[in-house]
Amino acid sequence: MSRPELQAPPEIYYGDIEAKKYTNNSRIQQIQADMTYRALELLNLPPDEPAFLLDIGCGSGLSGEILDDEGYTWVGVDVAPSMLEVALEREVEGDLFLQDIGQGFGFRPGSFDGAISISVIQWLLNAETSHPTSSPPHRLARFFTTLHSALRNPSRAILQFYPTSDDQIQLITSIAQKAGFGGGVVVDYPNSKKARKVFLCLFVGSGGAQQVPKGLEGESPEEEERAKFEKRRERIKKREKDGKRKSIKGKDWILKKKELYRQRGKESVPRDSKFTGRKRKPVF
Ligand SMILES: C[S@@+](CC[C@H](N)C(=O)[O-])C[C@H]1O[C@@H](n2cnc3c(N)ncnc32)[C@H](O)[C@@H]1O
Repeated sequence: MSRPELQAPPEIYYGDIEAKKYTNNSRIQQIQADMTYRALELLNLPPDEPAFLLDIGCGSGLSGEILDDEGYTWVGVDVAPSMLEVALEREVEGDLFLQDIGQGFGFRPGSFDGAISISVIQWLLNAETSHPTSSPPHRLARFFTTLHSALRNPSRAILQFYPTSDDQIQLITSIAQKAGFGGGVVVDYPNSKKARKVFLCLFVGSGGAQQVPKGLEGESPEEEERAKFEKRRERIKKREKDGKRKSIKGKDWILKKKELYRQRGKESVPRDSKFTGRKRKPVF
């Protein structure tokens, strides 16, 4: 089966059925969670300080849920209404925006302390239409230029993605550099076909003083992954014990959040349905 981004535009590919299938797949949950933890590690935020983060292509909130668990405040953007609908139903804490990142962001300069993006920017490599300003380089340039401006100085953006060639990595990094970013590519488990992961590690400011972190080495990260999950379980248990874990929000909370979005003039707020406020399935 070819990669999703080669099959259809994202808002079509992630329709109602695929959005639910994707979100409920426990293997996908685990992979996305692992990559989100790794992105947070690479983001290198000061420990125990609040931070306001952007989750680019937040989807149904698998990555955002980790940001919640870690105590960050975040905003998520995604182009697929069905993915955002699932995120709302799953009661993630982040504010959600329906937006095509290839059109660029309209956030105030310096709004965010950092940004992450998990399994998204490879979608920008496919032309949406034949219009000349919709070509991948144009879309990538708008994306990186407006992302750079939305981040505070100094800060980082960590973007995990699935390139199919070195040329794609080259294209993406050169456009990011032209937009003003420093940094480079971090490859984890470069020799493992299954575990290899590519992270674009972008820096704003600091006069080039930041070093690109090293990728993780080795062939078989399974043990390490299991250990990471154990750590995550322990962290969640601890937060629950300390009373820090967010309470599960009920139907009223979701209805209020949807109403707020409608008042802000958002057109894509999902209808209230019998599923609104359904209890979230435990991850473990
Ligand atoms: C594999 S999912 C990842 C979702 C989430 N980050 C996670 O870790 O579960 C890819 C997401 O990228 C979104 N996406 C793709 N192209 C996009 C674009 N041009 N603008 C905004 N979102 C986009 C898709 O709608 C989809 O939700």
